[in-house]
Amino acid sequence: MIKVGIIGLGMMGQMHLTGWAGIRGTRLSMVADTDPKRAAGDFSGSWSNMEGGAKSIDFSKVIGTGDPMELIHSDEVDLVDICVPTPFHLDLALAAIKAGKHVLCEKPLARTAADARRIARAADKGAGFFQPAMCLRFWPEWAWLKKVVEKGTHGKVIAAEFKRVGAFPPGWFLNGKLSGGAILDLHLHDTDFIHHVFGMPNGVSSGGWTGPSGCIDHVNTRYIYEGGPVVTAEGSWASAETKPFSMSYIVHFEHATADYDASRSDAPLMLYRKAKGNRKPPEPKAVKCAGPDGYKGEMTYLAKCIRTGETPSVVSATEAADSIRIVEAEVKSVETGRIVRL
Ligand SMILES: NC(=O)c1ccc[n+]([C@@H]2O[C@H](COP(=O)([O-])OP(=O)(O)OC[C@H]3O[C@@H](n4cnc5c(N)ncnc54)[C@H](O)[C@@H]3O)[C@@H](O)[C@H]2O)c1
Repeated sequence: MIKVGIIGLGMMGQMHLTGWAGIRGTRLSMVADTDPKRAAGDFSGSWSNMEGGAKSIDFSKVIGTGDPMELIHSDEVDLVDICVPTPFHLDLALAAIKAGKHVLCEKPLARTAADARRIARAADKGAGFFQPAMCLRFWPEWAWLKKVVEKGTHGKVIAAEFKRVGAFPPGWFLNGKLSGGAILDLHLHDTDFIHHVFGMPNGVSSGGWTGPSGCIDHVNTRYIYEGGPVVTAEGSWASAETKPFSMSYIVHFEHATADYDASRSDAPLMLYRKAKGNRKPPEPKAVKCAGPDGYKGEMTYLAKCIRTGETPSVVSATEAADSIRIVEAEVKSVETGRIVRL
């Protein structure tokens, strides 16, 4: 049985509590939060822009502590799941790796690419497995996209456009020194996925808006793939509070267009195939992708790797650090108005 300890019981910690429930061969054994109210399972005052977070913890089976280091060094924990604000990932991740634990660490892996590389170097030498929580790589409709691009199922990609837009989250996110602004905290999801599917771009060209966080809170980037597809992404916290959070992509292949919009709950992923010769184009079809959401997906996969001894390979700490490096190039491009080569 893999004993799981979660550090940080805010919005993401609560999502991870739900995620770990019912995953074969795992059991939640310990939780930690420096806020004593949260460590005691009182989630009042938490923020959230999605459904599904746990509402309580059964403390008859789980140990609660206000000291994350107690959790990291406890024999009651095999896998440390880090869900604290981004600037605290570095020290906790390094300590958990040093303690020989398996680690799942929320994104962004660290506040800077340099710190993320420190984690990656330590993770490479760690006794346990390390997985950055780049949940999109595990989201069924996004894993589908990666698969059809790789297989060339619908021909080559001509152009791909990704969008992730929401209102400002509250609290520490408003301080860009901590969160990095929307460009790091939110848009990184798309940057990382583009990196995952299309590889490291040759460069980036970005436009953006410096918002209330003091960092870039709206960004539009073209990822340059010389001789390859036209790839763009928009990430924003500039939305009105009353407009629901949205994530979407449109990918034009040689033979079809894939259109994903998370807000279309009945048919989030539509496939429109192009006409062959003079024939009528086939009817559009909804693509059904089986599997849990990306949070439960990333946890199920890591648990399976620990059970079987197979090294996790969907996302490494080095890849997560490289995705932050791309975001830092995007920041530079906004600031200079120039293409930044990678
Ligand atoms: N994967 C995703 O889709 C996604 C979505 C939102 C947030 N995140 C990431 O998850 C992380 C946490 O964000 P959140 O929205 O849950 O934040 P939050 O503010 O809702 O919760 C953070 C919790 O951590 C606790 N905490 C703070 N410092 C701590 C420390 N040093 N040790 C132990 N506990 C500590 C706080 O008391 C709080 O309960 C961030 O890195 C964020 O970028 C990921």
